[in-house]
Amino acid sequence: MGSIPAEEAPLLTPYKMGKFQLSHRVVLPPLTRCRSYGNVPQPHAAVYYSQRATKGGLLIAEATGVSDTAQGYPQTPGIWTKEQVEAWKPIVNAVHEKGGIFICQIWHVGRVSNYGYQPNGQAPISSTDKEVSPRRRQHDGSVVTYSQPRRLRIDEIPQIINDFRLAAKNAIQAGFDGVEIHGAHGYLLEQFMKDSTNDRTDEYGGSLENRCRFALEVVRGVVDEIGADRVGIRLSPFAAEVECFDSYPEALGVFMVRSLNRYGLLYCHITEPRMTFEEGKLKIPHRLHAMRRAFDGTLITAGGYDREEGNRVIEEGYADLVAFGRLFLANPDLPRRFELNAPLNKYDRRTFYFSDPVVGYSDYPFLDPLKEEVEEEER
Ligand SMILES: Cc1cc2nc3c(=O)[nH]c(=O)nc-3n(C[C@H](O)[C@H](O)[C@H](O)COP(=O)(O)O)c2cc1C
Repeated sequence: MGSIPAEEAPLLTPYKMGKFQLSHRVVLPPLTRCRSYGNVPQPHAAVYYSQRATKGGLLIAEATGVSDTAQGYPQTPGIWTKEQVEAWKPIVNAVHEKGGIFICQIWHVGRVSNYGYQPNGQAPISSTDKEVSPRRRQHDGSVVTYSQPRRLRIDEIPQIINDFRLAAKNAIQAGFDGVEIHGAHGYLLEQFMKDSTNDRTDEYGGSLENRCRFALEVVRGVVDEIGADRVGIRLSPFAAEVECFDSYPEALGVFMVRSLNRYGLLYCHITEPRMTFEEGKLKIPHRLHAMRRAFDGTLITAGGYDREEGNRVIEEGYADLVAFGRLFLANPDLPRRFELNAPLNKYDRRTFYFSDPVVGYSDYPFLDPLKEEVEEEER
């Protein structure tokens, strides 16, 4: 499929997602880049995101904290203060000027935090009081430690839902086209959903229905605030990040998407399980079939995709859109490169979370226009 002509490449076909007319199916998924000093988005983010924007292309902004208890990583952006909302505006404008559709991922880390990130050095909040073990980070080998979380009381839950509502309202005020609720990768919503991290005995723990209650209440709150046509969600039932996993991930995923059907959300974005080694090659497990069948709306898949695999899953109807994380990070003109089947820049893991405003961020090169001409002629 590497030689598919652009006109026939499924990834480059248009798609109508709710009220948005997408011109292609190559999505930028949320990527934390740790360059929002003091939790305030910076002007260099306008350069980075607009480099990746195309007319009718879908970009999802990095995980963005909903409140001062939501943070757990250095220099990640927030959207709970006026200053943060104002700082997002020029970034969103820069994407819109290029015709891009821009969604903000709204996030609470829950227990993936420590006292140092919390207001007044308090304990991080979670579904549980079990803490995450210290972890060696892959990109630089450093060891991160987490503090013991405090189990949320039932009477505190409405406040957290309200934080998500306000963050969504703020995102719309900043000009975003919608929000993606972060219900994936071991953070607060998943801590409630998965049985490794939910040891509650109240109405938010135990049965699948009870464990999903909090996430679905957040969805309902955000939908009430900004309307379902502006709300997406990210799920990762198969993931086991930061010791957050489930004994029956497929049942969890299917239960969630069936429950989401009643809201008519903009999309559901699901992360594939980790790639596996088969016959000497890295392979995507493709475990989303049951969720695809159960979900009525737009499905975005992510995790290990390249041009060939992306084209294949669109063609087969396995997903509607495909997100490319590390490839888009390193190739600001990824849709164009896919169109030309041009070579890709390699990503540099060491600078993923580097705080520099340029290096490893906005300095990945675009295709050389002269080479582009040659590649176009060769097609
Ligand atoms: C540097 C980096 C930062 C990420 N940050 C986020 C994030 O903020 N929110 C999120 O949901 N996923 C995040 N992810 C996961 C990606 O969105 C994506 O699912 C992952 O990179 C797998 O896709 P890929 O194989 O195409 O890179 C991050 C991944 C990377 C590499």
